[in-house]
Amino acid sequence: TQDRPLAGKRALVTSGPTREAIDPVRYISNHSSGKQGHAIAAALARLGAEVTLVSGPVTVPDPAGVKIVKIESADEMLAACLAAGAIDVAVCAAAVADWKAAHPVTAKIKKQNGVPPPRLELAPNPDILATLSKPGPTRPSLVVGFAAETENLIANAVDKRKRKGCDWIVANDVSPATGTFGGERNTVHLVSAEGVEDWPTLAKEEVAVRLAVRIADHLGRPRPA
Ligand code: PMT
Repeated sequence: TQDRPLAGKRALVTSGPTREAIDPVRYISNHSSGKQGHAIAAALARLGAEVTLVSGPVTVPDPAGVKIVKIESADEMLAACLAAGAIDVAVCAAAVADWKAAHPVTAKIKKQNGVPPPRLELAPNPDILATLSKPGPTRPSLVVGFAAETENLIANAVDKRKRKGCDWIVANDVSPATGTFGGERNTVHLVSAEGVEDWPTLAKEEVAVRLAVRIADHLGRPRPA
């Protein structure tokens, strides 16, 4: 068990962007590549966890040794997460679209001369991290979210941890100059009830390994009575 400390534990990881249909050919999405989330799923699996990876549309290869469920929208991501059953740890690394088209249509919206551009009305998506964090008998013992911010990184991440009800937040700056979205490296801060830990800039695989080891340490600790 020394090199597979997560043997017997079940993990759920979300990764990549979601895609919210406007019509059959257009959608709302973001720049997430899935590199960070997929690396976390792979790292947890290497430590022995049984991993379900729920992924939006990405081009990175499927990681070895994980069960992968491919979805498009946030609604589908939530359904796949709930279908994963009882889990010990959830890591929400996906960049879930906060909003979807309020009235998606099944036929392509036509561009017509003289007709003004259509107005896009948005509706909120379900919050998967907040849903998984809800107190109750089926709550995972550890729920880890991410915070993707372009300003006030730490303050927003501390606030996000409380609002979402998760245990840890991995905060990262996603300003374009950082290259966090889609890039190979990440500079993260681990926010927990104990405080904030600044990690050095690391390859996303190294962030994943460190996080997986921390998760294993946490789950291996004797439970408070
Ligand atoms: O995929 P890469 O190119 O490797 O980039 C990695 C990353 C930047 C996408 C990743 O490191 C990251 O920060 N992921 C979270 C992106 C995000 O949407 O952050 P947020 O601050 O908007 O959301 C906060 C948390 O709530 C996240 O854990 C997110 O997964 C979760 N969330 C958000 C909205 C929603 N409807 N449901 C959610 O579960």
